[in-house]
Amino acid sequence: MSDPASSEALFARARRVIPGGVNSPVRAFNAVGGTPVFITRGTGARFTSADGKVFIDYCGSWGPLILGHAHPAVVEAVCRAAADGLSFGACTEREVELAELLCARSPGMERVRLVSSGTEACMTAIRLARGFTGRRKILKFDGCYHGHADALLVSAGSGLLTAGLASSSAGVPAGVVADTWIAPYNDTAAVEALMQRHGDDVAAIIVEPIAGNMGLVTPTPGFLEALRRLTRDTGALLIFDEVITGFRLGPTTYGSLCGITPDLTCLGKIIGGGMPVGACGGRTDILERLSPSGPVYQAGTLSGNPVAVAAGLSTLKILIDENPYPSIERQGRRVAEAIERQARMHGINAHCAQRGGLFTIFFGEGPIRNLHDAKRCDAARYARFFHHLLGRGIYLPPSQFEVSFISAAHTDDDVTRLIEAANWSAGIPLTNE
Ligand SMILES: Cc1ncc(COP(=O)(O)O)c(C=O)c1O
Repeated sequence: MSDPASSEALFARARRVIPGGVNSPVRAFNAVGGTPVFITRGTGARFTSADGKVFIDYCGSWGPLILGHAHPAVVEAVCRAAADGLSFGACTEREVELAELLCARSPGMERVRLVSSGTEACMTAIRLARGFTGRRKILKFDGCYHGHADALLVSAGSGLLTAGLASSSAGVPAGVVADTWIAPYNDTAAVEALMQRHGDDVAAIIVEPIAGNMGLVTPTPGFLEALRRLTRDTGALLIFDEVITGFRLGPTTYGSLCGITPDLTCLGKIIGGGMPVGACGGRTDILERLSPSGPVYQAGTLSGNPVAVAAGLSTLKILIDENPYPSIERQGRRVAEAIERQARMHGINAHCAQRGGLFTIFFGEGPIRNLHDAKRCDAARYARFFHHLLGRGIYLPPSQFEVSFISAAHTDDDVTRLIEAANWSAGIPLTNE
């Protein structure tokens, strides 16, 4: 008989009332097998499961928790804001402060609209691009994920990729799919060819400037520059989806770090510090097309929610004051170098892609440049690796096609524990037998 509070018992209960037992497909363990871990509490780099086990967390709520779980200053800011009222559906000073901070820290961001998720941010950017340019077509890249709006699910990464829903989701009308064009990530020639023939029809190119939803895939030199040039030449907008990368590699956007200013930037995850905040920002002439200034409609009962904004503001201020980025980067490099060294020593075909605190252990030949390369990796071996680590108290994302996150709360010792558990001499099963 299982303990009534165990993950297994909770998952059985969940499946009776929640589709698939989870409120977001990436939480299911479908790609790796087994029962999702139910979590009761987290502090710093660790969380405790319903089964009473403690894990070092390298998933970090899929990215928001760059300061780790329940950072005391963030929790205090949230409690203070909550005591003043949970929601007004009207204006507050704190949301102005967050908007000011985002604009000050993100080159090219003159105006920003706060929303409640990355999905909403990207959906808003697409609608805005279409409303601004008067064009219909969107170009996105194979394996990039921009949230679950209809137009952006075509050839999307993350949960769709994990679930094998390669072309799109059921329920997305064919007309919507027809307006979304796809190119392989890092394939400048393909984008050039498409933009030369059809550039006048394209409202926007949307891209993750570092892709994190087919595993970690970094842009090859010149790729993002080419997207900037081609959109400028054709009058299309360039949208950087920085829901993962925003404030991840420095207290700013990746666009700022790589010296490319997109027309629109989508943010989420870190800017909410673990609470639901997203944002779509960019040039004034584009953003002022949004209602109520302009004709492009967008709204939200909980947009700029005071409690969520308090968490985001507090997180961003700590990142700016304490600058944990060099130390996170150092831990990221330790992981990547050790994993690759250990794999070489044991003759394992594995590659660890890494930027800052982002990493993906791919079971295949690197470098991984696009979805095609990512799909050639051995997802079954990742599943065995995942469970080996889980059994040793290390929690990675439960899919080969995701990134792992190192936070400022991970210590040298935490990272050493990951490296030791991931050593093939620690008995990681190489086959299912
Ligand atoms: C790059 C990117 N864009 C958009 C989204 C959607 O964000 P949300 O899950 O907050 O709707 C995600 C989610 O993981 C993402 O990784």
